Amino acid sequence: MRKKIIAGNWKMNLTFDEGQKLTSEIVNMYKDEKIKDVIAVLNPPFPHLFPVKKLVGDTPGIFVGAQNCSDKESGAFTGEVSAKILASFGVNYVIIGHSERREYFKESNEMLAEKVKAALANGLTPIFCCGESLDIRNAGTHEPNVKFQLTDSLFNLSASDFAKVVIAYEPIWAIGTGKTATSDEAQEMHLALRRHIATKYGKDIANNISILYGGSMNAGNAADLLSKPDVDGGLIGGASLKSRDFLEIIKSY
Ligand code: 13P
Repeated sequence: MRKKIIAGNWKMNLTFDEGQKLTSEIVNMYKDEKIKDVIAVLNPPFPHLFPVKKLVGDTPGIFVGAQNCSDKESGAFTGEVSAKILASFGVNYVIIGHSERREYFKESNEMLAEKVKAALANGLTPIFCCGESLDIRNAGTHEPNVKFQLTDSLFNLSASDFAKVVIAYEPIWAIGTGKTATSDEAQEMHLALRRHIATKYGKDIANNISILYGGSMNAGNAADLLSKPDVDGGLIGGASLKSRDFLEIIKSY
């Protein structure tokens, strides 16, 4: 059974107080409504991780994730945070390869492969992002483009390691633009990726991997996107910053 996951990527937003308020509201709803079948992953900026983790406590169904980790194990890398440090603070997930990191911080497929390995070696679940630019979508080469991102960064993993990864398909043209992929476009890509995974790791593993959709998902379009058979959740940016929107997405699932 694939996990249903709604992950909030706060990106570089929210002060300490704002983050605490948002987290408390999400925790309270999970407790009040006894939500069990949809996992929420809160991915705040680094300084929030520990206080958010403390607020979440052992609330069933809620986990905490970072937005990035270093590809290095430890040492003189000023400003970086290793997977080992994250794990020692009780962090459960880590987003790896978000298109903003690929674009603004020039993270290569090779570096992302190292980050995924570092995360797995420290017991973190990587949420591995992939997705095509508008030019590539318009050229019609989006499927091979996105499949290659998986091949290049993930297909060197053992089957048992690969099975622990969560994939997030985030078409770049849909991120922060208000222009979401249609549910059919999302389903088409998710199915293509699942089949691609099956060619390397077999059907069982492919069928058990959660593939999330990200890109302008909100309370209004979530139910449609999440109704598709190969869409196993969402990676939410803007709409994860308001508890009501984030919780409505979870409820619509
Ligand atoms: P938006 O939901 O703001 O489009 O962001 C999506 C995203 O990048 C999540 O990682």
